[in-house]
Formats: sequence, C-alpha cells, structure tokens
Amino acid sequence: MGGVDAIHMPPASRVLYLGAASGTIVSHVSDIVGLESLVYSVEFSHRSGRDLIIVAKKRTNIVPIIEDARHPLKYRMLVGMVDTIFADVAQPDQARIVSLNAQHFGRMAGILLFQLRLSA
Ligand SMILES: C[S@@+](CC[C@H](N)C(=O)[O-])C[C@H]1O[C@@H](n2cnc3c(N)ncnc32)[C@H](O)[C@@H]1O
Repeated sequence: MGGVDAIHMPPASRVLYLGAASGTIVSHVSDIVGLESLVYSVEFSHRSGRDLIIVAKKRTNIVPIIEDARHPLKYRMLVGMVDTIFADVAQPDQARIVSLNAQHFGRMAGILLFQLRLSA
C-alpha cells in the first residue's frame, strides 16, 4: 500500500465518499477498508453513475448512490453512521456539502478527508 492505507480508514471502518465519479478511487478505498465494511459512494452524474454501479456489482462493500450530495436527506435511508467522510466533489461549496453530510451521518469523533484540486 506504500503508506496509503494509513489515512484514517482502518479495516472495517465505514466511509461516506462524496464525488465518487466512475469509482476509480472508490475501488481503492474499498480495498483499504475491506469486505467487512461499507463505502457509501455518492455521485450525481448519471453517466459516471452507470460506471460506478458496474464497479459496485463486483465489490460488495460499495453502495452506489446516484444523488446530489447537497441533499443528504434524499439518501438518508441508505446510509448509516460513518467513521470517515471523504470529499472529492470539486465544487466551490465543498466544505458546506461536507458539513451537511457530517450533520446527518458523521460520528462525533469521526474523520473528514478533503481532496483539494488546486489549479495554477
Ligand atoms: C474530481 S471528480 C471525482 C473523481 C473521483 N473521486 C476519482 O478520482 O475516482 C468530482 C466528481 O464529483 C461529482 N460531483 C460534483 N458535485 C457533486 C454533487 N453535488 N453531488 C454528487 N456528486 C458531485 C462530479 O460529477 C464528479 O464526478
């Protein structure tokens, strides 16, 4: 794993992944947490969501959710409390989106991971 397994996602932790796209990095998270865990993967693009669902069919710990992460109430019946929220929505209001999701699904002592995409 080259150290990437030490990013606050120990085996069996539950992860809410916002901005799953076609599931490339989600599949790595799926490997890191292992089959006894769940990776709730939210993506609002239906095109990317189709690929995400194909990835989820092969990996039983991925729960694909094709919804807008700005509206967590729409998927609250699918998602339990999570240990870690991984955000890669690449939106200007990413912090607000994470905060909304943390209010619904985050544990008091949970972890937030932001992927920051910086342009020159
Ligand atoms: C930078 S890409 C993520 C790449 C992905 N994490 C990977 O490398 O495997 C950002 C993704 O977030 C999705 N996205 C942006 N805003 C969103 C929102 N409000 N709700 C759900 N998905 C969103 C986009 O459709 C896009 O697929």
